[in-house]
Amino acid sequence: MDKNAPIGVFDSGVGGLTVAREIIRQMPMERLVYFGDTARVPYGTKSQDTVIRYSRQIIRFLRTKEVKAIVIACNTATACALETVEKDLDIPIIGVIHAGAKAAVEATKNGKIGIIGTEATIRSGVYTELMKEMNPDIEVTGKPCPLFVPLVEEGLLHDSVTDEIAGRYLAALKEKYIDTLVMGCTHYPLLRSTLGRLMGEDVTLINPAYETARELSGLLKEKGLACSETGEGEKYQFYVSDMAERFKDFATAILPGEVKETKKINIEEY
Ligand code: DGL
Repeated sequence: MDKNAPIGVFDSGVGGLTVAREIIRQMPMERLVYFGDTARVPYGTKSQDTVIRYSRQIIRFLRTKEVKAIVIACNTATACALETVEKDLDIPIIGVIHAGAKAAVEATKNGKIGIIGTEATIRSGVYTELMKEMNPDIEVTGKPCPLFVPLVEEGLLHDSVTDEIAGRYLAALKEKYIDTLVMGCTHYPLLRSTLGRLMGEDVTLINPAYETARELSGLLKEKGLACSETGEGEKYQFYVSDMAERFKDFATAILPGEVKETKKINIEEY
């Protein structure tokens, strides 16, 4: 396997750009091919079978780009599909849940952890399962926050409407006296300041995007796959299944440099 090949990163849409941003920050040498499934977003309200089918198609597409490893930069797709799709692959694949769960277990002092995410992620129980494997005494409370994704996509990051909704969602977690909160959905790190203010400074916020980039860096080194040269051509390639222009604007707002091109493909062909 060519260690200078790109890393494939995918998400149901724009949210996974928070993971791509961390990979770019922590591993500036690496090349990326990002796919955002903007035609079929959201995944958070879909069944497990559907998310597995979508993930398989995207992995087939990414393999045509000869990626050396794949990151499922979506909590919902990780929760629903990682365990199934990893069985078919001969290249490394990671999701965003393991690293976030580990960081939360390490951070908590009182053993009470909260997780917020989409309905599918919370329903899957994958975060809880992993944390309990790491420490059976941990008490985990999950809370789906379905309105956060549309609020972020509408750009309402600092808005009284977001405050009001977040206050209601977080009340259930405050009652449990959690001291650690996992932002278990790609969009939520963009609400970090609101979530931090409402939970108070005694609660540690865990960003799985950051933790996943760290995990990926360790994995690439361990497998001898870390990129060693700058290479030629576009370093970052972006593909979507719909609304390429809208995606490009969002990506430019989130990533360190300007995203000059985003290509639309028909993912159903894969
Ligand atoms: N990317 C999804 C996640 O992290 C959120 C958006 C969706 O529901 O597809 O769970």
